[in-house]
Amino acid sequence: MDESFVPATTEWYYPSDAVVHNALVPDYEATYAEAMADIETFWAQRAKTLHWFEPWQQVLDRSNPPFYQWFVGGKTNIAYNALDRHIKTWRKNKVALIWEGENGDKRTFSYWRLWQEVNKFANVLKSLGVKKGDRVTIYMGRVPELPIAMLACAKIGAIHSVVYGGFSEHALADRIEDAQSRVLVTCDGAWLRGNIVELKQIADEAVHRSPVVEHVVVVRRTGHEVNMQHGRDFWYHDLMNLPIASPVCETEVMDAEDPLFILYTSGTTGKPKGILHTHGGYQVYISTTLEWAFDLKDEDRWWCAADPGWITGHSYIVYGPHILGATSFMYEGAPNYPYPNRWWKMVEEYGISHLYTAPTAIRGLMRFGDAWPNRHNLSSLRMLGTVGEPINPEAWRWYYNVIGKGKLPIIDTFWQTESSGFLICPLPSVGLKPGSATRPFPGIEADVVDEAGNSCPPGTEGYLVIKNPWPGMLRTIYGDPQRMVNQYFSQFSHQGWYMAGDAARKDEDGYFYIIGRLDEVIKVSGYRLGTAEVESGLVSHPAVAEAAVIGVPDEVRGNVIYAYCILRSGFQPSEELVDKLKEHVRHEVGPIAVPSRIEIVTSLPKTKSGKIMRRVLKARAMGQPEGDTSTLEE
Ligand code: WTA
Repeated sequence: MDESFVPATTEWYYPSDAVVHNALVPDYEATYAEAMADIETFWAQRAKTLHWFEPWQQVLDRSNPPFYQWFVGGKTNIAYNALDRHIKTWRKNKVALIWEGENGDKRTFSYWRLWQEVNKFANVLKSLGVKKGDRVTIYMGRVPELPIAMLACAKIGAIHSVVYGGFSEHALADRIEDAQSRVLVTCDGAWLRGNIVELKQIADEAVHRSPVVEHVVVVRRTGHEVNMQHGRDFWYHDLMNLPIASPVCETEVMDAEDPLFILYTSGTTGKPKGILHTHGGYQVYISTTLEWAFDLKDEDRWWCAADPGWITGHSYIVYGPHILGATSFMYEGAPNYPYPNRWWKMVEEYGISHLYTAPTAIRGLMRFGDAWPNRHNLSSLRMLGTVGEPINPEAWRWYYNVIGKGKLPIIDTFWQTESSGFLICPLPSVGLKPGSATRPFPGIEADVVDEAGNSCPPGTEGYLVIKNPWPGMLRTIYGDPQRMVNQYFSQFSHQGWYMAGDAARKDEDGYFYIIGRLDEVIKVSGYRLGTAEVESGLVSHPAVAEAAVIGVPDEVRGNVIYAYCILRSGFQPSEELVDKLKEHVRHEVGPIAVPSRIEIVTSLPKTKSGKIMRRVLKARAMGQPEGDTSTLEE
């Protein structure tokens, strides 16, 4: 477990009367009670705020748990709700998306323009033979074409699988293979800290490994020379200029339970899990959570600083804000490039009202000191948010005092790829405590329980569980439904609860403190990685016989990766080899997976059944007592 220790605190921060008074949902307690009295009626009311081609016959089908179905029989399309319906209103001319490149490039899309771009690309996809139900893998930098490609897939009923641009060829190839995508959308490269990330080159190597891909569409971003394979690869801008790329495209009528996307995430075994979400429930859940927790209104300018390649970007850059008809800002590059005021400069320039980011970014920017934000006018900000890992109270207070000037609510949102949207987070009326994600969202029954499922008393650590279904919950693991049951619903199968995989604790006031993962997932700078992914990256190097990886707490990044490797005979430990291994992981898995330390060892602590005891490794790494090692067989 990650010991990102969050002390219980009695420090309270209450929202001002004005914040509560003006909030869309001014009374958390009453709303929560009302929702829990009848979750089906509650979610049905929320669903009615969206467009349905045909109404549902049943709100929730509980006949085959944990395979719940929502809005059964309803016909809809999330792209219709995110785009088509807005262009029939005054929002047609409203700014939908503002984008700034790391090099200062700027682009702006009204809802009308975004709708047209999406239609055009939807037609391009069709011309490449993509049909309803087909999978399309998207591997891009943070450019507007990324949300455009996602929305275009949704529009024609194709299932997108976005792979984060910080992953490398092995990770990308695995995900292409698992989804069996015949089309890959990528970029020539991406800008990061003034350098080019060679996305096309990585994509080529991945396609070489997973030849299922027939066509690669390449967005030109960096403009440097890349290999284009004749007949297989096409430039995005060339395709978008063809007559087939008409700006009008019929939106496919989807069943509420038709798949919308697969998003691969790390689990306990080597193979990443393809978490599957559907059109109907997902759109209801993410739009409600965004609107209510952040009190998002038409006049706001929303900035979620995550990457669209992770669930945070899917739900709260691409789909959520556009369903709500909001103006969303997206930035391509690094937060401190070229100077540590980059973010604050953009907040000022664009009049950002909401900033939603990860604790690691806050800690990183905090290090540069208060002068950088203080030289900018941040008065447009109205709300701040955080996600991805526990926020330590020190970073929380800095965010609150220096960025929020002691006035803005901090919405600490606990959730997961699997949940699709916030599970535990404050609404504007909820009093805050640094380091606590506060209370469950209306409609969510969360608890902290012991192994037997008894609620833990306040202050006691236990398993975080969700006791009821919610519309945005994962529907399956792509191609392996049983794995979903085993992973999330077997520990408390008796009660039918969802086990999040996190340790948590509640305090006397019912406030939740998330402690960290209970499984072999490591959160590095808020990114979710599996020990198994990094380990298989290491053992794919000819020098490595066996590898074990752990997460070790780090002041800025939350956790960093330590790796322990046993070498094959014939290889000698050396600094040079360690550097080579790091480079190998960077190449195979991606820069985010590179261990900050690799130690060459001659044995690993294992149980008698051969399972690596990561707990023991971690204790050793941190100079702590090793605890019970009775089952240890070195
Ligand atoms: C962690 C990211 C503490 C947690 C949206 C969870 C958090 C995992 C918080 C999911 C938070 C996310 N406080 N921990 N506010 N938000 N986590 O799937 O361990 O990338 O299980 O989704 O991130 O990571 P994922």
